[in-house]
Amino acid sequence: MRFGTRLMAQADDLARFTQSENGLTRTYLSPQHRLAGDYLLDLMRKAGMQADYDALGNVVGRYPGSEDLPAILTGSHMDSVVNAGKYDGLFGILTAIACVGDLHQRNIRLRRPLEIIAFCDEEGVRFNVTMIGSAALCGHFDPAWLDRCDEHGISMREALRAFGGDPDGWPALQRDFSRVACFVESHIEQGPVLLSEGRAVGVVSAIAGCTRVKLSVTGLAGHAGTVPMPGRRDALAAAAEMTLAIEQIGRERDPHIVATVGKLAVAEGGAVNVIPGAVEFTLDLRSGDDRQRLDALATLRQRLDTIAHRRSVGLTWQVFYELPAAPCDPDLQERLAQAIVDSGLSVRRLPSGAGHDAMQFAALTPTAMLFVRCGNGGISHNPLEIMTAADAETATLVLLHFLEHFDIEP
Ligand code: HGY
Ligand code: MN
Ligand code: MN
Repeated sequence: MRFGTRLMAQADDLARFTQSENGLTRTYLSPQHRLAGDYLLDLMRKAGMQADYDALGNVVGRYPGSEDLPAILTGSHMDSVVNAGKYDGLFGILTAIACVGDLHQRNIRLRRPLEIIAFCDEEGVRFNVTMIGSAALCGHFDPAWLDRCDEHGISMREALRAFGGDPDGWPALQRDFSRVACFVESHIEQGPVLLSEGRAVGVVSAIAGCTRVKLSVTGLAGHAGTVPMPGRRDALAAAAEMTLAIEQIGRERDPHIVATVGKLAVAEGGAVNVIPGAVEFTLDLRSGDDRQRLDALATLRQRLDTIAHRRSVGLTWQVFYELPAAPCDPDLQERLAQAIVDSGLSVRRLPSGAGHDAMQFAALTPTAMLFVRCGNGGISHNPLEIMTAADAETATLVLLHFLEHFDIEP
């Protein structure tokens, strides 16, 4: 294999840069971010790229073209969720570097510059802000994020300074999209479709829109032994009923809606003999159709308010993240499809239920995604996430074909 075995070994190397005892957790501006970034910088430079960190901790590599044409941007994120798999995000970076390394080795220059960006934070684990790196390139960075604090009370601004970044440098990262030809992201599917159909790769048709809400339930803390059941204003029991209502709207509107409660915490951690007085939890609701997503949110809000009223608890609903569905560019989809056909494979187009940095670019430049098969039933955001060297090889050959033929008239 030209690429597959090496990519898998690189993913294994990078998985060593983790904050957790077992499994992979790598959050924004952590020492492990620096270790992984240095590793990727080394790979990029060995592939003949000019590469460095930018002010926010993205790792950016550039492979100049023979002409000064608008650049092709590619890449994915280098951070992870808690207890993640090895390939979410990283595969999109490694496959792109492998393509450039191959071009460099064959002394080939594309007509236009090619940039690879390892985005510093897409998952939003540390500061509860997602897609920080790609948002900055797309002019969507909110300076208020710099005052967000992590669970230890460290602000993004402080962490950025300690990392060697520049909290005031974010405005300069915004790209002039007249100098950008397109953004293409390779990513593991994180789902079962390609696996179930025996396909190594697929072309993404659209990326689901997503709304994330922080929900706070306020009841009345009390003695677990003395407060009669009927009079209780139990915040956790209310949150539990709301969680089931969230699951219910996803089930009712399947497959158009998915709805998840990913985090729930009793204020001050709770105690075995205290009726919970306050609970915070999160909602993540997605759909490929924005109208359906917004309709489901409106219905859900009414249902949660009804539960809160019946249980005499307070409920606050704070949207902290919202991105519309992002259709992928038809011409780029066609080019990826042609690369797949020229690689001797049949084409499968499929939507992405997962969010990606590509969503930030979709309204600014032609944007597309190439999916590669996941094993283990397509599981992801889990250490059981796997892919094969053979599929890494196939996806990299397809991306390389796409890049080399970009300026050859189809
Ligand atoms: O949540 C997502 O869809 C992505 O993994 N950040
Ligand atoms: Mn992810
Ligand atoms: Mn991802």
